[in-house]
Formats: sequence, C-alpha cells, structure tokens
Amino acid sequence: MTRNLAFVILIFGLGFACQRSAAPPEMVKSPNGQLAVEVFLTPGTQQAAYRVLFRNEVVIDTSRLGFVFQDQAKLAGGLKVEQAIQSSIRETWEPVWGEDAQVANNYEELKVDFKETMGLERQFSVAFRVYDDGLGFRYEFPAQPNLDSVIILDENTEFSLTGDHQTWWQPGDWDIYEHLYNATRFSEIDAISKRNHPNLAQTYIPENAVNTPVTMKTDAGLYLSFHEAALYNYSDMTLKVDKDHLRWVSELVGSPDSSKVKIRTPFHTPWRTIQVAERAGDLIESHLIVNLNEPNKLENTEWIKPMKYAGIWWSMHLGQYTWEMSSGRHGATTEHAKNYIDFCAANNIKGLLVEGWNTGWEHWIGFEDREGVFDFVTPYPDYDLAEVVRYGKEKGVAIIMHHETSSAPRTYEKQLDTAFALCQSLGIHAVKTGYVGPIIPKNEYHHGQWMVNHYQKVLETAARYQVAVDAHEPIKDTGIRRTWPNFLSREGLRGQEFNAWANDGGNPPNHLPTIAFTRMLAGPIDYTPGIFDIKFDQYKPDNQVNTTLAQQLALYVVIYSPVQMAADLPENYANQPGMQFIRDVAVDWQQSKVLDGEIGDFVTIARQEKGGDRWFIGSITNENPRKIDLAFDFLPAGRKYLARIYADGPNAHWDNNPLDLVISEQVVDRSTTMPVQLAAGGGVAISLTPQ
Ligand code: NOJ
Ligand code: CA
Repeated sequence: MTRNLAFVILIFGLGFACQRSAAPPEMVKSPNGQLAVEVFLTPGTQQAAYRVLFRNEVVIDTSRLGFVFQDQAKLAGGLKVEQAIQSSIRETWEPVWGEDAQVANNYEELKVDFKETMGLERQFSVAFRVYDDGLGFRYEFPAQPNLDSVIILDENTEFSLTGDHQTWWQPGDWDIYEHLYNATRFSEIDAISKRNHPNLAQTYIPENAVNTPVTMKTDAGLYLSFHEAALYNYSDMTLKVDKDHLRWVSELVGSPDSSKVKIRTPFHTPWRTIQVAERAGDLIESHLIVNLNEPNKLENTEWIKPMKYAGIWWSMHLGQYTWEMSSGRHGATTEHAKNYIDFCAANNIKGLLVEGWNTGWEHWIGFEDREGVFDFVTPYPDYDLAEVVRYGKEKGVAIIMHHETSSAPRTYEKQLDTAFALCQSLGIHAVKTGYVGPIIPKNEYHHGQWMVNHYQKVLETAARYQVAVDAHEPIKDTGIRRTWPNFLSREGLRGQEFNAWANDGGNPPNHLPTIAFTRMLAGPIDYTPGIFDIKFDQYKPDNQVNTTLAQQLALYVVIYSPVQMAADLPENYANQPGMQFIRDVAVDWQQSKVLDGEIGDFVTIARQEKGGDRWFIGSITNENPRKIDLAFDFLPAGRKYLARIYADGPNAHWDNNPLDLVISEQVVDRSTTMPVQLAAGGGVAISLTPQ
C-alpha cells in the first residue's frame, strides 16, 4: 500500500462561510436539499433546540439540548443566539482499507453560538453537519471564565420521534454489547436487566435505555438510525426511552462516583448522529459515521494488512483444548501452531491467532484478584513464540498476538510498551485484545470515559509500535478507523463464540440479518464466520450454529471486516468443496453495494475486490426461507464473469439439514437475473471472476 493512500486525498474542496445575523430559526439543508435541520430557541424558556425535516416532513420533532453539571446551575434555558455560521464541504477521501476505496464527504455545516443572557453567561456552540444520508451534531465549549473544569452529571440531548416507530434495540448495558436485538415498537421497549450476559453476570444495565446504533422504521417506511461518531475522552452515549413524550434522551455511561464525564474547557462532545434512509440497504452504504471523523493521523500504513486468519481459538470454545496449560490439554503449543500455519499456507490464509500462549490463564476468569495475572510477554513453556513466528514467516503466515487483559486495564497499561515492543521485535503487526469480566477497579464500566481513554491509549501505543488492533469486549465503534486505521476490527456483539457455549440456544437465525442494519452501521465486526461443522456434536451436543453452511460462506461478504477469520478447526475444512470460497474471497474492497434487504429478515451485498476485477456476493436470510432474484446490473457493461454459486441445497435447513450445499457455475453479465432459493437460516455466496 503506498503512502499516498494513507492520506486523505482532496479531490475537490469548496469551502465558504457566511455570517448571519441572529434571527432564529436557522436552517441548513443537505447538499441535495432533501434533509433539513432547523436550530432555534424554545419559546419562553429560550433553550437551544433543533428539528429535522426530510422532504419537508418532520422526522425529528423539536428536541432540546442541555447539560447538568456538578456544583453549577444546569445549562438549559435563558440563552441567546450570538451568531450562526454556515459552511460547505465537497471532498472525496481514500481510506487505507474499507468497504469502498473512495468516500465522498459532502455536507453543509451550520454552527450556532449560544450564550446565557444572565448569571454565569456561559457559552457553547452546536455544530450541525447535514449530509444527504443523515446528520451529526456536537456541542463545542470554548475556554471561558465561568466554565473551566467541568463534571458532567447528565447530557440531555433529545431526539423527539414523530410516531411509535418499529425499533431494533438492545439493552443499554454499560459493560458489554453482547446482547440479542429485540424488535418492538418504541413504546414497547422493555430494556431491563433480565438479559445479563451469561458469563458476565455483573454487567450494569440501567432501566429502559438502549445501546446505539439503534435503528427504527417509521410507518411511512423511512429508516432512522441513531448513533455517535468520534468518541474520545467522553462516555458512551446510551439512549433513554421517554415513552410519555415519544423521545430518546441521551444517557451517558457512569463511573464510580456517579459523574458521567470529567473534562476541561475547551472541549467538544462526540457527534450525535441520525441516519435517514428510504431504503434499508442505504443505511449500510452510508459513510456518515466515518465521515464525521478526522482524517488519518498515521503517516506510514504499509504494515496495516487486511487479511483472512485462522486461530487456535474455536477448539478452546468447544472445550477440545484449553487456554491454560495446567489442564494437560493446552491448545497453544508450538506443534499445534505449526500445524495451523501449514493449514493457513495451504489455504490462502495470511494470519494465525494463537490464544492461551502466555502464562496466567489458570487465574483469569471469575477471580477477584486478576490484577497482575497476565504480563503479555511470558509464553508457557510448551510454546516457543520466536520459533512459531519464524516458521510462520517461512510459510508466509503472520502471527496475530493475543492480549487478554481480564479487564485489568491498569495492569495492561503498565505493560503496554513492553508488550508492543515484543511484537515489534518479532515483526508482529496485529493484536487481538480482550476485556472479559467486570473492570478493575470496581464500578468503572467498559463504556465509561475512563475506559474510552484506556482503549484509545492502547490503540495509539500500538500504532507507535506498528501494531493494528482487533478489540474484543471493546468500546463501540464510532468511525475512528478513519483517523486511526490501525483499529482494524472489533467484536462488540454476540459473536460466533456464543454458538459454542451460550445456554440460551446461541445466536438465532434472525441475529445477523438484524446485526447488518444495527451494530454493523458502527463499523467492522470480528464475527469469526466459517464454521463448517455446524452441529459439533462431538464436543458440545447441546450447542450448534443456527445457520446453514452456505450462510457461513455468505458472511464473509455480508458482515464487513478487514480481518475475517476462518474460524473452524482445520480438520473440518479438509476435503470440503465450500472451502474454495474462503480461499478465494477478498477482504478489502473497491466498492460495496447493498442489493436488497429488510432489517431482521434478509440482506444481500455485492463487493468488488480492491485492486482487482473479481466481485463477491453474499446473501443471508433469517428463519424464513425465501427466493431472491439476483440482478447483476452492477457489473460493468460488455464483460462476462464466471459465477461460482455456493447455494443452499433443496433440502437445506439451519437445524434439520444445515450441510446441504450445492455448488454450481454459470456465466453472467449485467443483463443476467438469477433466481436463488435461500433455505431457512440459509444464504448464498457467489464469486464472480472475469472471463
Ligand atoms: C472473549 C473473546 O470474545 C474470545 O474471542 C476470546 O477467545 C476469549 N474472550 C478469551 O480471550
Ligand atoms: Ca466476547
């Protein structure tokens, strides 16, 4: 990857600014004029407020903005508008890796400066950036005499709805996003603590709040999704359900002393985002979240490599091997690692994750005193780290380092330089991190400001040692991959691992068709697809994957990540015709198109590989079988492609017959329409090679 690609390339930029006299409401429209935001003071109370219109219809009604600070009057009404400035940006930038090689960043900005007319005369601005596919707004607090060190007790940002929309939501857990999504009307949201994570019973879930992204559909068929962008030095925003007024109100994640954020002026909040789409698939194609982030800060990015990887991993989740050595069934041995490297080399898989390689796993989960357990540099005696890395290099397979912190971030922070220096000395350029268990110290939460800063410190330290990060039990993605492209991927959802051990039946067939329109709007997902031994009765007769084999293949295209695992045991891929798709499928993309989909039902995505002519298609369905008609009109004119189709067989079914896979070939061009039958819990994966 050339250095140039690492940089934002401004293809053309138009900037102008004009100052307006303070005559609210101020209004700003998206470049195509369809989405509009009005900013004004509420009559009487003079509180800052906004409204959003799409095609002249209100989609977010009058919503107030304000804060509650400790030891200060709350910041709400009594304001005047000092000035409003509009500006306009049209540019295209090139991410280091991503769903599309070029990203258009076109928006109109309106920044309104507010000031209290009496008392402390505090000042702040709200900047709105309005795109064709949604908007973001953030608070900006300048340095000022009466607002210096601030303790935020509440941010009261409202999002007033125009109806009781259908909502795809998960509880607003402060510690983990590993929950199933629920589909209910807004007024029926019932996000109480009854759905605690099976392994992390202590997670904190406030009543009636949801995590973002949360996605909605109005009765008129408009799609809305609420999230945030560029979360730094602040707490994760959950959304409280105000049923009486049919609105969301921001609820920041807390800390041991019940404050939400401690910060000094000048500061600004993350962007509060609202995606607006007429087609469900447009939610996925949107670049709103990354666009609201700053350009790439890393000068040299050649070491950041999208790739497929395998792992000494699933075998531990199945109970075949263990992370700890004392069991006598240690997974991370030199010998196993070499076998896996041979498997990777034979199957066009460029990375190998090895978990359980370092000492400490005898004392990691379920113990109170986890501080100091892992040191991230000491291998178990049966694992020769240097030799494994050497063997991998010889075979063209990079080792992915593993840092399970057991949620003792202070221990990890003390070790960061040592740990990443070890990676650098071995030529290791990727790490998977983990944060299982409640955070030490008690009452810090995974999603609070303190941990947001920790995750960022890890990311920035890793970058200094040329290491890319794939975080499990992470803070949610808010598009910072644009600025820090070494943040490759994250978990932050119920991943494949739940199918190995969850006692609630695992991830149901509607999980991933929902994830594509909710969690995936935040950013890349390390779901770890590719389980071929769907029932794994030999290891866990009571658990299974709840999809067909064809769907497992389709996930490499549908669920976006620049690192994609071939998660199953090597022996389960032996002599499997479906393995050819995993060998072939790309991980970095020139362009991505969502051909069709409905939230929770099905989704079909086509992606063209970056720097090549091949296309890949993935389609997945929930528990309902369905026929789709694939139109190939996205292909360039005048070219023919050989389509290799990995489809559900006539008798396929996620539970009764998941392995029924039929592979066929057909020549297609842009005029082709191909009917495909997806089984219950099934899917289809297609590779298209130019002829
Ligand atoms: C939970 C992670 O999600 C999983 O991938 C990992 O194997 C375990 N923690 C151990 O670190
Ligand atoms: Ca996890």
